[in-house]
Amino acid sequence: MRTDENKLINPELENIVEEKMENTLRPKNLQEYIGQDKVKENMKIYVEAAKKRKEPLDHVLLYGPPGLGKTTLASIIANEMKSNIKITSGPAIEKPGDLAAILTNLAEFDVLFIDEIHRLSKSIEEILYPALEDFTLDIVIGKGPSAKSIRIDLPKFTLIGATTKAGALTTPLRDRFGIIHRLELYNIEDLTTIIKRSSRILKIEIDEESAREIARRSRGTPRIANRLLKRVRDYAMVLEDGNITLKIAKHALNSLEIDELGLDEIDRKLLDTMILTYHGKPVGIETLATTIGEEVETIEDVYEPYLIQIGFIARTPRGRVPLEPAYAHMGYTYL
Ligand code: ADE
Repeated sequence: MRTDENKLINPELENIVEEKMENTLRPKNLQEYIGQDKVKENMKIYVEAAKKRKEPLDHVLLYGPPGLGKTTLASIIANEMKSNIKITSGPAIEKPGDLAAILTNLAEFDVLFIDEIHRLSKSIEEILYPALEDFTLDIVIGKGPSAKSIRIDLPKFTLIGATTKAGALTTPLRDRFGIIHRLELYNIEDLTTIIKRSSRILKIEIDEESAREIARRSRGTPRIANRLLKRVRDYAMVLEDGNITLKIAKHALNSLEIDELGLDEIDRKLLDTMILTYHGKPVGIETLATTIGEEVETIEDVYEPYLIQIGFIARTPRGRVPLEPAYAHMGYTYL
């Protein structure tokens, strides 16, 4: 149940758990949330059913590339359930005691959001299992032969876990989520709608074709769309009267070195390396990462999903290969 008291009592906890964040661009309910129709439809039913049963929502796992609104969706779910949300992340929970403190500070029906849940350590994951399954916490007090285990009942809560890598989650953890959804990259239509909505909120004048131009270069990602919108606004304010036109949008995006498809310098370096250095032959992700000086994780989570989506690269058992459209876009002949 939602209480006005959304603060945590233990001040140390505030480093691990963030309070519900307010951000003007974030949609507050499912109605305002654009795109991800399948997830929205399903969540609407599950939320409604849980409310009818007067039970907390089953634990939810959201996965997919960064910037697609996993945190936003978690906040919306909490809002729709009329529950409080506590936000934390896998790397922020360092010790078993950190998680115990978070869990014992929850109130009935609270939503606990753990971002990057695949980065929880094994010992912390094990504390989570009984908490998710039976809403209990087993604590060991003392050490050696005199150690005692006590069981604490926890309030009934909903865990929403988010990850860019569902595959990195252990099976026992994944199995404890009743609802699992993959967020997809957004299409141009939905991104255009998001950009127009953000422009209204930020009081930016923008026409349809300029919004579409920014959408086309946002790599299917609302976070990028909103970031580009703000940068284009800067150009419009300094070089023109502040209104975003197609001319200023194109000028700004070109100055940011974001090409017609939203590819940046790193995407282009990646494609160049695959085409020129490795002659279009399958190449392992580690080799690619080393050659261009990026983390494997960054390539896998940030760059690759979009390049695969637009049909520029493919994953094969022997490695990544560039496809014909990538050659054409980069100005090379496909052999
Ligand atoms: N801002 C960022 N993501 C959004 C979404 N999916 N719907 C509406 N506004 C957004």
